[in-house]
Amino acid sequence: MKRPRSAAAKRALGLWKQLPRSARVHTTIRWWTAPFEALDAEVPRSGNILEVGCGHGVFTTYMALSSTSRTVVGVDIDPEKVTLASESLRGLRAGEASVRFEHRASGDIPTIDGCWDAIVFADVLYLLAPEDRSRLLSECVGALAIGGSLIVKEVDTEPKLKARISHFQEFLATKVLRITDGDVLNFPSAAQLAMLMTSEGLVTRRARLDKGYFHPHCVVVGTKTSS
Ligand SMILES: C[S@@+](CC[C@H](N)C(=O)[O-])C[C@H]1O[C@@H](n2cnc3c(N)ncnc32)[C@H](O)[C@@H]1O
Repeated sequence: MKRPRSAAAKRALGLWKQLPRSARVHTTIRWWTAPFEALDAEVPRSGNILEVGCGHGVFTTYMALSSTSRTVVGVDIDPEKVTLASESLRGLRAGEASVRFEHRASGDIPTIDGCWDAIVFADVLYLLAPEDRSRLLSECVGALAIGGSLIVKEVDTEPKLKARISHFQEFLATKVLRITDGDVLNFPSAAQLAMLMTSEGLVTRRARLDKGYFHPHCVVVGTKTSS
């Protein structure tokens, strides 16, 4: 568990002060339990960044606040979360951050002229069946610029105790409390994700982000070197 430390992190969470208590609590817990500052360090400091499955968008907005050279778009299949995410932006000052949110159906990846410099997933792919996950990643690779990165943060399947904690929590979130939309619960390991991204032609590397956390956070970064 880690408190928000940087000014951008405090600002991103502060934008939720005027929003419903349940959403504010959710975004605060999300921040304390996910390694967002370490994940942000994997994202290019400038360019067009897409986050797929942005949820309430606290990480999306944080990316935009932590570097104003980024233009960040967050998309999610849950219209209520996207509405709340957009409402949180009302507190931004002019020029403070370039960020917006869109509601999109699963697999509907927005495209832009010149393609995306980075596409980010933070704890989304475990909610897709393996064949849908492969299809979605393939579509994202197609929407990336040459030199761009696909940055996938998930919880790894090791160490086993941390993995069990994550799986139980996600079972509660999706099947009992129903606060997360998703088709299935299918947790890929970091090694499987890296293999999948390599098979899409990306040059990949992986890192653990779980020091000080109860969950086995990991990230796989794939760089597109050719079309
Ligand atoms: C655990 S939440 C993570 C939200 C956000 N990325 C974060 O780190 O706070 C998973 C999100 O993925 C979204 N999601 C599930 N399946 C999706 C899909 N096929 N395409 C886009 N978003 C999806 C859910 O609606 C939910 O908001």
